[in-house]
Amino acid sequence: MTCNNLDLLIKNIGVLATPVGNSAKGGKEQGQIKFIENAFIAVKGEIITGVGSADDLVDFEPCENTKVIDAGGNLVTPGLIDSHTHLVFDGWRQKELSLKLKGVKYLEILKMGGGILNTVRNTRKATLQELVANGMKSLDRMLEYGTTTCEAKSGYGLNLEDEIKSLIAIRELNRHHPVDVIPTFMGAHAVPEEYMENKKEYIKLIVEEMIPRVAQDKLAEFCDVFCEEGVFDIEESRYILECGKAHGLIPKIHADEMTPMGGARLAAEVGALSAEHLIYASDDGIKAMAESGTIAVLLPGTSFYLGESFARARTMIEAGVPVALATDFNPGSSPTESLQLIMNLACLKYRMTPEEVLTAVTLNAAAAINRASTIGTIEVGKQADIVIWEAPDLDFIFYHYGVNLVKMVIKKGQIVVQKQGR
Ligand code: NIG
Ligand code: FE
Repeated sequence: MTCNNLDLLIKNIGVLATPVGNSAKGGKEQGQIKFIENAFIAVKGEIITGVGSADDLVDFEPCENTKVIDAGGNLVTPGLIDSHTHLVFDGWRQKELSLKLKGVKYLEILKMGGGILNTVRNTRKATLQELVANGMKSLDRMLEYGTTTCEAKSGYGLNLEDEIKSLIAIRELNRHHPVDVIPTFMGAHAVPEEYMENKKEYIKLIVEEMIPRVAQDKLAEFCDVFCEEGVFDIEESRYILECGKAHGLIPKIHADEMTPMGGARLAAEVGALSAEHLIYASDDGIKAMAESGTIAVLLPGTSFYLGESFARARTMIEAGVPVALATDFNPGSSPTESLQLIMNLACLKYRMTPEEVLTAVTLNAAAAINRASTIGTIEVGKQADIVIWEAPDLDFIFYHYGVNLVKMVIKKGQIVVQKQGR
């Protein structure tokens, strides 16, 4: 009897569904999920110490202090991981909805000084405390919907002081909220109004002042660039990402989101950990990503919300590119914190199977933020980030859509969400 190894025991799990391993899965492997029926999970502190079917439970007899959870015969998966968000901002942009309905395109709104630049004006005015308070609300919502870890980008400050303020807000959110928040520097999210006629100077500010300071103060792990027509072109993006790399920031890239720019190939060339969006990624770019092992972080909520095409997820999976899925949560192109909605869209619009989607929001998402050895699967030694669903099996959460099917969320071995009466 290993009573010492048992702070938490989840039993009567109808079916436990999890990918396995410590690295991103592409091709056929993306759809390989381990299912254990009538399962249990044992946890000591923050770490999973046992996983198996009820027959093996004899080795894990609870002691007096063990918290025992009856999963009620439901589905259990790893906690969801949202690997691409713009979490920290002030000012929602619901006014853009009517423009959008009249057919005004996203990049046109940006050109008119709206869009991202509107949020920049508000974010600059906001205090650190206000940004943290906004972020807390969104993280609460994410957690309720099953997200236990998220990535968060700066990029609504667009000057040294306000980019740093945004990254400090992300650090505070990580410290004070149960959801782990992984920081990305995205000073190259747009060209701010005061540099509109002088983009070169803004790029100089990014590489000479912002990146060194961010790296020195250890405020971010990744550096991202919006490589897009009218924003940063291929060579500008390459230059910024290489500079980030020289300062220890791992490259990520908003690639081929609204126009085919060759961003996917650039991602492969600079050795980016992930390329994100990829709606217009070319065959050649996809092939290059497969060869370089770059993860595709796909964001179907953005396609849905902007009325754009959907990325070629099946082509990417078949080419061997590991696919992750994320919300792209932001006030402009994807105002939702619900990774469940994204999972539904991926299944129905990308034609990804439930198994492929599960890998995409757990293990592959963990790999896209460099965390695949600690989170993303339910295996002995991994962090106990777990969702108990109000669902009898994996297919159910893709079928009963548009509602929150989370019953309970466990983060680092602690219950952090518990739906009453369910
Ligand atoms: O990923 N593309 C750039 N950034 C976000 C949109 C940000 C905004 O509109 O505020 C995106 O779509
Ligand atoms: Fe984004």
